[in-house]
Amino acid sequence: MTMRTVEAGGPRPYSIHIGAGLLDDGAALAAHVRGRHVLVVSDSNVGPLHAPRVATAIQRQLPHAQVIVSCIAAGESAKSLDGFAELLRELADLGATRDACVFALGGGVVGDLAGFAAACWMRGIDVVQLPTSLLAMVDSSVGGKTAVDLPQGKNLVGAFHPPRAVFVDTSTLRTLPDRELRAGLAEVVKYGAIADPGFFAWLEDHVDALIARDDGVLAEAIARSCEHKAAIVARDPREQGERALLNFGHTFAHAIEAEQAYDGLNHGEAVAVGMVLAARLSTVAGMAPPADAERLRDLLVRLGLPVTRPAGLQPQALLARMRLDKKADAAGLRFILWDALGAARIVGDIRDEDVLQVLQ
Ligand code: GLY
Repeated sequence: MTMRTVEAGGPRPYSIHIGAGLLDDGAALAAHVRGRHVLVVSDSNVGPLHAPRVATAIQRQLPHAQVIVSCIAAGESAKSLDGFAELLRELADLGATRDACVFALGGGVVGDLAGFAAACWMRGIDVVQLPTSLLAMVDSSVGGKTAVDLPQGKNLVGAFHPPRAVFVDTSTLRTLPDRELRAGLAEVVKYGAIADPGFFAWLEDHVDALIARDDGVLAEAIARSCEHKAAIVARDPREQGERALLNFGHTFAHAIEAEQAYDGLNHGEAVAVGMVLAARLSTVAGMAPPADAERLRDLLVRLGLPVTRPAGLQPQALLARMRLDKKADAAGLRFILWDALGAARIVGDIRDEDVLQVLQ
C-alpha cells in the first residue's frame, strides 16, 4: 500500500495519513487509543460498509479494549443536540474514561457530531477522524472544527477540537455516489483558487482522471488539499484571520443553501456556484481580470458542477440571507475575493449593488 502523510502543525500537531486500505490497518488505528474504551461512530450508509472492519481491526490489536459501534441516521438532521446527547449516552454506557477514543467514520456530519461529543465528554477525549467522503477528506476532517446544528441555523453550537490523527482510506471513494464526488472536487478546486495557481493548473490537466476516480490522482489531489488546509489552520486555528479564506464562495453558498431550505444544491455544488460568483464580484469590484473568473467557471463545468444561481432564487432574497449570515460583522458585507486566481483575500464593505449585479 502506498501511503502519504501530511503533518498538521499548530498547538496540537497530528498526522493525516492518505492511502488505500487504511481502514483495515488495525495497528495504525489502535496506536492512537490510549485507554480501554473505543466508540466507533458511523452512519446508516457508511456503517454497514465499513464499521465492522474498523471495529474488528482495532479489537484484534487491542483484545482487552471495549470497542463498540454507534450508527446514527444518515443525513444532516442527525447533527442535532439529540444526536449529540445520544452519543454522550453511548459513552456513559461504555463507562468511557478520560483516555477513551472516538473514531468518526463517515462524512462531514459524522465527523462534526462525533468530534463535538469527543470535545465535550469529560471536557475532551481523543477523536480520530476516518473520513469516507471526498468533502470530509479534504475539508471537514482536518482543522478541528466540530459542531451541531440548531433549528435556528447550522453549526451554531460547537468547539475547536483537533483530531489526534486523520486516516483517509481512498478506497472508500469507490462507492461514493458521483454527485458526492463532484461536490468534494469543488472544495479541492477551492484550494487552487485561493492559494495555489500551480495546483489549479494541475487540476485542469487531470479532470478526466479525477472523474474516473484514478486512485493515484485522487490521492494526490487529497494530499495537496490537506497540505493547504493544514497549513492555513496551523497559522490561524481559531479563524481570527487567514482561516476565513477557506470560506471562498461560502457566503454565496450558504445563502443559496438556506434559500433552498437545504433541499436543493448540496454544499459542494453551492460552493461551486458561490466561488464563480465571488470571482465575478472580484471583477466587478475592480480587483481581478474577468478571464480568471471564466477559467474557474470552465474547470468547475468540466468537473460537472453547477456554476449559476439556481433558477427561482431571487437576488434580493439571497442578499438578505447574506446579511443575516454576516450580522455579527456589523460593518457590512465581508467577502473572500481574489486579486487573481490563486490570490484570495478578505474584503469588507462590498456594495450591495455590486453583489446584486453578479447575482443577476
Ligand atoms: N471549512 C472551513 C474551515 O474548516 O475553516
